[in-house]
Amino acid sequence: MRVGVLTGGGDCPGLNAVIRAVVRKGIKDYGYEFVGFRDGWRGPLEGDTMALDVEAVRGILPRGGTILGSSRTNLMKIEGGVERVKDNMAGLGVDALVAIGGEDTLGVARQLHDRGVNVVGVPKTIDNDLNATDYTFGFDTAVNIAMEAIDRLHTTAESHHRALVVEVMGRHAGWIALHSGMAAGANVILIPERPFDIDEVVRHVESRFRTQYAPIIVVAEGAHPKEGQMQLATGETDSFGHVRLGGIGQRLAEEIEQRTGKEARSVVLGHVQRGGTPTAFDRVLATRLGVNAIDAVHEKAFGKMVGLQGTDIVLVDLAEATDTLKTVPAERYAEAEVFFG
Ligand code: F6P
Repeated sequence: MRVGVLTGGGDCPGLNAVIRAVVRKGIKDYGYEFVGFRDGWRGPLEGDTMALDVEAVRGILPRGGTILGSSRTNLMKIEGGVERVKDNMAGLGVDALVAIGGEDTLGVARQLHDRGVNVVGVPKTIDNDLNATDYTFGFDTAVNIAMEAIDRLHTTAESHHRALVVEVMGRHAGWIALHSGMAAGANVILIPERPFDIDEVVRHVESRFRTQYAPIIVVAEGAHPKEGQMQLATGETDSFGHVRLGGIGQRLAEEIEQRTGKEARSVVLGHVQRGGTPTAFDRVLATRLGVNAIDAVHEKAFGKMVGLQGTDIVLVDLAEATDTLKTVPAERYAEAEVFFG
């Protein structure tokens, strides 16, 4: 059996750990051969490959990023894309694919499976918003990076009696904001799932200032105020047509400064959250997902995704994983709200 491996979408600490696990287990237990496809779906689309053997995956476990490269190429938007992938796979003698990615990449994997391609998915995103898995690797690393940054911002904010607004990633879901904010004792956490009331935010900030502590506000990049509150810049798109987020942190800091008369600063953590070495939790999760993904290929469980439920790695339909996003439930947010102000 020849198996193709690809990583698509935004990169994420732990991708290399999955690749290593898939290749090591596949060679050792099943005698498989592997083909690395470069840059997500662009690889199989253009037949752009790299060697993927024990030598190629040596030493990559702790390395961030992905040795295969990544892209947001969406096959389904390319005329004849699916046929080209099938032809290239046949030409290379690739019988099955392991697609490691988030909602978009796995959505394509699902459609390919519906059109006869043998594919198994592995969930990846620092945002932790994929359904049918309790955690995605990369999330724990991102939360730890954000937590450490917030810890550091506490001390400088206190020295200058300032409010500090920390913008973290999370386009549609506030998991990183919720966990990093809870872990680092933020005074307000704002998430996309729950439009915020700016008057309430200002009340929390003022109450925090009264107790001599400098308030820390953690805001997910996709968070937004209630209808009619605050003027926000409309999302611009970049030259690839992706909506550019970012900016809510800066806007909030300006609003807080205006309304409280106290100094406020904003920090955008951005891609720092996606870079560098994965935590032990993410390395173990990524490794377990990789091992189980190649088992799924061996069992011909195509159209499935490996996921973590409780402490077990399970197989779920790609459809279940990609139909809806896993957002922060109200009761989880309520646990964080106890510490606001
Ligand atoms: O999907 C993960 C994510 O980190 C989002 O939280 C963020 O909005 C997006 O990627 C940004 O990715 P890029 O700048 O690479 O397009």
